Parts: sequence; C-alpha cells; structure tokens
Amino acid sequence: MTKEKTTIPQHVTIIMDGNGRWAKLRGQERLFGHKEGVESVRACTEFAVEKGIKYLSVFAFSEENWERPAEEIEGLMQLMLKAIAMETPLFQKNGIRFRVIGDFSRLSQKLRNEIDECMKLTETNTGLQLIVFLSYSGKWDIVQAANKVVEEKMRKGEQPTITAEEIDSNLSTSDIPHPDLLIRTSGEQRISNYMLWQTAYTEYYFTEVLWPDFRKMEFQQALDAYSKRERRFGKV
Ligand code: FPP
Repeated sequence: MTKEKTTIPQHVTIIMDGNGRWAKLRGQERLFGHKEGVESVRACTEFAVEKGIKYLSVFAFSEENWERPAEEIEGLMQLMLKAIAMETPLFQKNGIRFRVIGDFSRLSQKLRNEIDECMKLTETNTGLQLIVFLSYSGKWDIVQAANKVVEEKMRKGEQPTITAEEIDSNLSTSDIPHPDLLIRTSGEQRISNYMLWQTAYTEYYFTEVLWPDFRKMEFQQALDAYSKRERRFGKV
C-alpha cells in the first residue's frame, strides 16, 4: 500500500468549545470542564511539537465571554494563571515560545505579570509557538489596526486612506502567518468573532467532539482531513 501524502499545516488554530456541556453531561460545574480542557491544550501542544507544526493558537477567552457569570470568569482566569505557571518549565524544555494576544487592559495585574514573565522567558525559543487568544475579538483586532494606521498617517500629515497591507501589518498577529487550518469543536459551525481578517483563506474543520475529549487522535483526524483539501486561494 502506498503511503498517502500528508501536508502539515504551518499554523493550526482552535476554537475550543464544549467544556460546559462536557461538565454538564457528568453532572458537574462548568469549571470542571474547563479544567479538563486545559489537559486537551497540553495534549494538542505535545502533538503539535511531535508533528512539527510551527504555530498552534487557541481561542481561550473572547471579548464576549466577559458577559459570563463573574464566578466562571474568575475560575477561568485562575485556571489560566495556574496553567501558565505550571507549564512554563515544559515550554522551556521543549523550546516552545509562549504568547498571549488580546486586550490586556481587562486582565488582572497578577495575570498580566504571569503572562509577561512567561512570554519574556520563552521569547527566544525557536520551536513551536503556542499562542493563546485571551480577551480577544476579531473586530477589536481590525479596529485597533485601523486606528494605528490612521494615527500614524495623521501624525505624518498624510491622507487617512487605508490599504489591506497596512491593516495586515498592524494586526496583533502581524508576525504570525495566517492560519492554514481552523478547528472548532462541539458541533458549532461559526467563527464567533475570532480571527476574522486572518481566516480569509483558512480551511475550516468542524467536529462534534467536545473540547475536553479532543486529544491527539482527534487532532490527527483533523490533519488527515486537511491533507485531503485542495487549497486554491481563489485561483483555478
Ligand atoms: C468553551 O467552552 C471554552 C472556553 C470559553 C474556555 C476555554 C479555556 C480553557 C480550556 C483554558 C485554556 C488554558 C490555557 C492555559 C490556554 P464553553 O464554556 O463555551 O462550553 P459550552 O459551549 O459547552 O458551554
């Protein structure tokens, strides 16, 4: 049997969904699902390293998620804080560069410090880049990019007309290639104000699997599906 050719995407991004439902199915609080979700992040990170994926990004908390009950938000932020502190040695051991992208102004100082510390410590690592989108929304990103371009032009006394290239180079992801593959778990088939600009030509993969159950085998299935796609970028 001939071995099928597999194409490894350079950047895989994941909308992690279904933690609450996973917990409810087990008669537990939502946070129980988020905790198990962290284990899936770890498994997927390990898998990405094994597969030689260069960028793995995850949508951990959207701007809209600030509307959730305070108790759940607090629990999630604590979880994030703990996970970063715990995983930092593993990042170092595996040459992983850890990054967080989003509107930091709403995060606690403690969490910001932990994030800054981990980002600085791993800044020169040349292996996988693990990027967590936190307090992030696609519209926020495009608006902040547009504002940066306009401010710069006004400062220079230029016309405030904007090009796509200028937006692109001012997005919070300007030094990260656009995602090749976007995975969303839990059966929802929408983009939910995630990387709106950056996913213009991304391949989408939707699975019914709830995020806490999404591990290496499920990741491999997504990669297999991706390998079968023919990407034409609007050309013939
Ligand atoms: C979606 O499930 C999940 C989230 C909004 C939070 C995901 C965050 C983590 C797993 C923590 C990640 C930690 C690090 C360090 C990256 P949901 O609550 O919307 O589930 P539901 O749709 O079933 O209600």
